[in-house]
Amino acid sequence: MEGTKEPLGLRAVGSHSSLSEMDDFDLTRALDKPRLKIERKRSFDERSMSELSTGYTRQDSYLDMAHSPGSRSMLDTPLSCARNSFEPHPMVAEAWEALRRSMVFFRGQPVGTIAAYDHASEEVLNYDQVFVRDFVPSALAFLMNGEPDIVKNFLLKTLQLQGWEKRVDRFKLGEGVMPASFKVLHDPVRKTDTIIADFGESAIGRVAPVDSGFWWIILLRAYTKSTGDLTLSETPECQKGMRLILSLCLSEGFDTFPTLLCADGCSMVDRRMGVYGYPIEIQALFFMALRCALSMLKPDEEGREFIERIVKRLHALSFHMRNYFWLDFQQLNDIYRYKTEEYSHTAVNKFNVMPDSIPEWVFDFMPLRGGYFVGNVSPARMDFRWFSLGNCVSILSSLATPDQSVAIMDLLEHRWEELVGEMPLKICYPCIESHEWRIVTGCDPKNTRWSYHNGGSWPVLLWMLTAACIKTGRPQIARRAIDLIESRLHRDCWPEYYDGKQGRYIGKQARKFQTWSIAGYLVAKMLLEDPSHIGMISLEEDKQMKPVIKRSASWTC
Ligand code: GLC
Repeated sequence: MEGTKEPLGLRAVGSHSSLSEMDDFDLTRALDKPRLKIERKRSFDERSMSELSTGYTRQDSYLDMAHSPGSRSMLDTPLSCARNSFEPHPMVAEAWEALRRSMVFFRGQPVGTIAAYDHASEEVLNYDQVFVRDFVPSALAFLMNGEPDIVKNFLLKTLQLQGWEKRVDRFKLGEGVMPASFKVLHDPVRKTDTIIADFGESAIGRVAPVDSGFWWIILLRAYTKSTGDLTLSETPECQKGMRLILSLCLSEGFDTFPTLLCADGCSMVDRRMGVYGYPIEIQALFFMALRCALSMLKPDEEGREFIERIVKRLHALSFHMRNYFWLDFQQLNDIYRYKTEEYSHTAVNKFNVMPDSIPEWVFDFMPLRGGYFVGNVSPARMDFRWFSLGNCVSILSSLATPDQSVAIMDLLEHRWEELVGEMPLKICYPCIESHEWRIVTGCDPKNTRWSYHNGGSWPVLLWMLTAACIKTGRPQIARRAIDLIESRLHRDCWPEYYDGKQGRYIGKQARKFQTWSIAGYLVAKMLLEDPSHIGMISLEEDKQMKPVIKRSASWTC
């Protein structure tokens, strides 16, 4: 967890929008606006890429059916689920209580949840703030429970923060940047609430929160999808907020790839972990955010141009990811036999990957059936590590084709010991150690082997795993993971992460009562109980984005 050494080391960076102006913004007024009375969970029309570009209309796929509320039986819901709906696990009530305790209020309105409510910990750092990424599972839990107001408030508050002028030293950040986190300061004497926000200028290592904007768009769609309230996403403010985020990530540069170039520490892994370049975690979120934005942008004068840019980028991005990031047995074998130094467009080894750079572990790790998106691909560099968030989000966003999604789930099942062990779910696999750890992490004592971001196990990832399981029709895998969580998480006071090869030990510096561990559990439970919730965080396959090459047996079985 990153942030400032002094708890209040954050600056309110707003200059053209002052704190008092901020205060003037009346959340209650926004909330009081008459709401469209539409049945909850009614889906709003998704504008698919293909519909836009070719006038094609969507056909039902097995995934569509999995999304529709009436399709529960399709999903092979295990009996244990039905059991849950009658006898809720005692942890559920405790989790709700803990989640409510973490709520943060601004002028009497709930606007988010703090990262951790750990009184025992002497070092608060910035765990008392509302992190954008951490709030996502809280938001989903509230939406699934029919409490959308906190989510709406959060979306509006962060939108306002985006409007601040942001600087790191003398460098002015892009207009669209969303904060990594914010904090509400209550002045008991003057009875005022003010907000301070961190756009990376206070964070340890001054890391850029590239994922915040993507999560904001994804959450706006989840809110819209869950409530049927189109009025929020259609406001000029939300439309502008989306366009600003999009201008940042769609801008042209010197890139030869459609993927998004990032520095280390730009996402959930917010420390140096050698993910610089084109990390899967960001590419999957980028893809998902583009698709979500596409479904919400109005095709008006300003929106139209963005819609066109998104459509083009999605075509290129899906092609690139599905072909060059995908690894399975066949592809590994092909890379192993690659020639190097090939010149011209006929090159097979396009990025000049040296077969000698394939790490030993991957040969044993790769099952005959199954596959995954590797961590990173750039010239002469393939990071073969498995990253959980990136692969789960690839399934949810349909960046992975249906066959690839099945293959990812197959891999998870085959490599359960390695990827899950005793505590779901490893953030990445495997860890890096010794000399490599020194070079890659810069000797980071928090990221020692099998700890924290370096192969640590993060309970929050349970919700993404569960969602991926439901989308692929394999809820029994999620059930297995939830059983593991239920045997420990509550007893251990909801830690942030676990350490060790099996994920058996509470993390060295893990906070207790970590909100996203709590909310992640609730979301997983609610998803299993009512799989129709999946629609708010999942996008069906867009058949227009066809994979071009077919290379693995696991794709076709
Ligand atoms: C740590 C995590 C980051 C999270 C933050 C707050 O810095 O690495 O992903 O957002 O803690 O929980």
